Amino acid sequence: MTQRVLVTAGAGGIGKEVARAFAAQGAKVCVCDIDAPALEAAAKEIPGLVPLVCDVSKRPDIERMVAAAAEALGGLDVLVNNAGIAGPTASVEEVDPEQWEAVMTIDVIGTFHVTRLAIPHLKQSAAGSIVIMSSVGGRFGYPNRSAYCVAKMGLIGFAKTLSRELGRYGIRCNAIAPGAVGGERIERVLQGRADAEHKTLEEERTAAMSIQSVKRFVDPKDIASLIVFLTSDAGKSISGQILPIDNDAQTSAY
Ligand SMILES: NC(=O)c1ccc[n+]([C@@H]2O[C@H](COP(=O)([O-])OP(=O)(O)OC[C@H]3O[C@@H](n4cnc5c(N)ncnc54)[C@H](O)[C@@H]3O)[C@@H](O)[C@H]2O)c1
Repeated sequence: MTQRVLVTAGAGGIGKEVARAFAAQGAKVCVCDIDAPALEAAAKEIPGLVPLVCDVSKRPDIERMVAAAAEALGGLDVLVNNAGIAGPTASVEEVDPEQWEAVMTIDVIGTFHVTRLAIPHLKQSAAGSIVIMSSVGGRFGYPNRSAYCVAKMGLIGFAKTLSRELGRYGIRCNAIAPGAVGGERIERVLQGRADAEHKTLEEERTAAMSIQSVKRFVDPKDIASLIVFLTSDAGKSISGQILPIDNDAQTSAY
């Protein structure tokens, strides 16, 4: 079976690696993203990729995008809800409420709308599967990242609910919880923490490694491999789970 796959926010970062891994398996892949030039570049890099511009904070954009993706792919077997912003680094008392709400709008409400609209298409699939991107922050709380923690913990509840609701239609849903992933984003997050804590970037990097058994950042390719496995026939008995991929992080606070 040729899988028909939609990856949100797939023009860069982890999402692009996920799109690349599915395409390498022979899947038909559509990615949406807010960044049109990055989408164009991704479409050049990954043969056959269907790029769609969409801001997942905007419901009309999502409505157009999901319909266009299902049409371009001829249906939908796999939805990878990857879109999510890291949000502000500040205490609950001091955080900018607009920035806090923006995290809910993109990470939680955006995931809800994409999924809601994808379900009718997934029901037509012989092997529908949804993956939701949580985080190590969705398993442990940590200071100064309340919006992200709330969003990523909420998404675990969403994944478990979807698994219970959709199992009867043969649709599986799992959440994955990556730890600190190598790449540009982690550099921004570490810099934010360093600024908030009045530390250097190197001090933050050392602190980040101190909470993991395996002392390296997660390779985005490994996350892509996990998602390809979970949504494949080999993963057909796995649903309603949270799968950490985090080099054995014992906490997300340090
Ligand atoms: N990088 C990490 O360390 C890490 C760890 C755990 C979980 N995650 C989660 O993995 C997912 C991807 O993270 P990443 O590091 O690849 O992200 P990233 O910051 O590299 O961004 C990936 C893509 O999201 C797009 N995007 C941003 N806002 C958007 C919007 N409103 N609508 C559509 N697209 C939008 C960007 O244009 C970009 O192409 C997120 O949900 C994130 O929370 C990341």
